[in-house]
Amino acid sequence: MIQVKDGIFELTTEHTGYYFRILKTGHPEHLYYGRKLRLSHPAGCGADAITEKHAFAPGGTIAYSQEHPEMSLEDICLEMSAGGKGDVREPFLEVTHADGSTTSDFLYDSYRIPSGAEAGEEYDLPRSYDATGQAEYLVLVLKDKQYELTLELHYTIYPECDVITRYARLINESRETVHIDSMQSLQLDFATAPLVFTTFTGSWGREMKRTDTIVYDGKHVNASYTGTSSSRANPFVMLSDKSTTEDYGNCYGVNLIYSGNHYEAYEVSAYGKGRLVSGINPRGFGWKLEPGAYFTSPEAVMAFSKDGFNGMSQCMHAFVREHIVRGEWKKKVRPVLLNSWEAAYFDINEKRLLNLARAGKEVGIELFVMDDGWFGNRDDDTQSLGDWTVNTKKLPGGLKSLVDKVRALGLAFGIWVEPEMVNEKSKLYEEHPEWVLRIPEKPHSQGRNQMILDLSNREVQDYIIDSMKKVFSAADISYVKWDMNRIFSDVYSRNLPSDRQGELVHRYYLGLYRCMRELTESFPQILFEGCSSGGNRFDLGILSYFPQIWASDDTDALCRAEIQNGYSYGYPMSCVSAHVSACPNHQTLRVTPLETRFNVAAFGVFGYECNLCDCKREDLAAIKAQIALYKEWREVLQFGNFYRGRSFSGNSGDFHSCLRNSDGNVMEWTCVSEDQSRAVGMLLQRQVVPNAQFEYFQAKGLDPDAAYHFYNRLLKVNVKDFGDLVNTLSPVHIRQDSLLHELVARFVKLDGECEDVIACGDVLMYAGVKLKQAFAGTGYSEEVRHFQDFGSRLYFLEKL
Ligand code: DGJ
Repeated sequence: MIQVKDGIFELTTEHTGYYFRILKTGHPEHLYYGRKLRLSHPAGCGADAITEKHAFAPGGTIAYSQEHPEMSLEDICLEMSAGGKGDVREPFLEVTHADGSTTSDFLYDSYRIPSGAEAGEEYDLPRSYDATGQAEYLVLVLKDKQYELTLELHYTIYPECDVITRYARLINESRETVHIDSMQSLQLDFATAPLVFTTFTGSWGREMKRTDTIVYDGKHVNASYTGTSSSRANPFVMLSDKSTTEDYGNCYGVNLIYSGNHYEAYEVSAYGKGRLVSGINPRGFGWKLEPGAYFTSPEAVMAFSKDGFNGMSQCMHAFVREHIVRGEWKKKVRPVLLNSWEAAYFDINEKRLLNLARAGKEVGIELFVMDDGWFGNRDDDTQSLGDWTVNTKKLPGGLKSLVDKVRALGLAFGIWVEPEMVNEKSKLYEEHPEWVLRIPEKPHSQGRNQMILDLSNREVQDYIIDSMKKVFSAADISYVKWDMNRIFSDVYSRNLPSDRQGELVHRYYLGLYRCMRELTESFPQILFEGCSSGGNRFDLGILSYFPQIWASDDTDALCRAEIQNGYSYGYPMSCVSAHVSACPNHQTLRVTPLETRFNVAAFGVFGYECNLCDCKREDLAAIKAQIALYKEWREVLQFGNFYRGRSFSGNSGDFHSCLRNSDGNVMEWTCVSEDQSRAVGMLLQRQVVPNAQFEYFQAKGLDPDAAYHFYNRLLKVNVKDFGDLVNTLSPVHIRQDSLLHELVARFVKLDGECEDVIACGDVLMYAGVKLKQAFAGTGYSEEVRHFQDFGSRLYFLEKL
């Protein structure tokens, strides 16, 4: 709800409140964001309590004006700060005016509560949207009268998911061109600063590592300058108290609906106030704003919960599912896919692909995806990007013939493309060397042997749209994996004058979003998946067009568990694509149990990426059973509410857990259907700890009053797991790894442990289920839980 009462702007969601007022000086002062406050109680309005007292400016600071010598902008919480008038903290907006000055002063002019066209206004950038009819909008209009600039601060309230979004628009009403040096999307000031700033950093193959930094003073920056939202530093960040845990305590989450260079800085001022800004990275950015023109910053998203990190994640998940993801696939169950990449890499041809598809069909795969290697002379990664015509040596009948054959098997067909790129060795580059980002006449640096097409150029956008339309309509294509495999360097466009080169990366994204918008609108039935060497562009900008993103090129189950756990702080699992791959794993050479690979991938948008044609019969049978099970539970897994329990980093904030053997050694997840009637849990162990037999599973998100049937996935145990201990049971001596050992292993399967209890939700959540004892060197029976290194188990919960 939006109310303006007693001079205070109140923006409230179901559980949170965001409050600001206009100071005597005209500056919008931020008052409080967090738990919803009862400001309108008849006994008193509370406004006096939450407004900061400004009787004098602290020593050494700048007095704002002669009329207001008591006001120092450096020590006031503000809705936005432009710098130059005494606020020396991180600015929201920095402009160089035509006279060379960099001082701006934006003061309150008016506000409006738009509805209709302006409320859901579309612009070139992706933006959240509302189909529930519950969203409300506020525009606060500020003016810098000295320089005839208007700044609009736009707020959207999504009450049901406790999310508020912000973006800004700068309008040049003067007769002179101004230069925007930096313009953020969100500024969030705190009178009492939260201490912990959490970022999700990494690199290729190890995305989304949660890092907690305690900021007592000074500034901590999370930013990307790769030209992408990046695996180095995801734009999603959190602020919390030192005492916040997964389930208790204050937590703020902030994200940006943008895929380019971003910047999130958390600064604690000399006076102990906190300021978080989030927006386009000012480094390398600059925008010439001509008279009459305006610039709009991307939309930033904020959520608050008093119920810890999980509480905040629930808000973000609900928001992304309802207000970011759109189109036909928004609520549609995603098919189980088989991708050819790790099965064959570039070495594909029709026969090999069809064999793979057939093997997939046998085990229950629904969608077959042909990854890289199908076009031009694409035998490796040195050539052909840009030439989107079929390689007829590999696919003699063309795309249609292959797709028809795959369709005839009863599978849907998907294809890989990388439209934003070109190899120097390509027809496209021969014809259009001017279409790439590079500095004319200067040596150029490449990434994965490729160059980036200049998407700031409309001609290039048109080429991408046209060539992709041809590919997507050449056959019955149900899914597209849109890849992007290098970061930016030598950033320069021949399409822009020298004084506008700072606009290039942002213009690139405006161009990319246009391509994505046109293509998704033209092919609404296609399920698009974003990808950028895995998670190098996992952000809400991409998710506004493509409902899911390949989370990482690292398919090792142990790494993936951490990576997916990292994504889960800000993104719902229905957006996180995850595959089971071969072992030893191709990125780490680690061997993990097939069951664990399945269990981890099952919590994302699920598929396989391995050569099923080479799989052992036993593994194929296991895969078939996995897929059948997944299909029974995928509604819950894809669209349920996901909760984190204990995690490998042991930094769930639960410091008591450091006394337990399992601290940092288990990952615990629960995913619960919206109506709380069904849930799936997982416990994954990193390493076996000797003689540590006790373990438990603690569910989350259940109905505390309802009774549930809790049971585990029943498995058979391979006798070979026990090595030569087999002789403690065998009447004849069996040499380890001998033929006899193999034969025994094939025919003798041991029963795994069985967990089966009926208990109320409160028992399962607050006490947890004490599981069967783990193997501890004292013998094995079905009363013993066999978890090897990287062992895991799925648990199911059904309301009675
Ligand atoms: C990088 C992606 O992340 C992989 O999954 C695969 O599609 C390759 N590109 C293909 O070149």
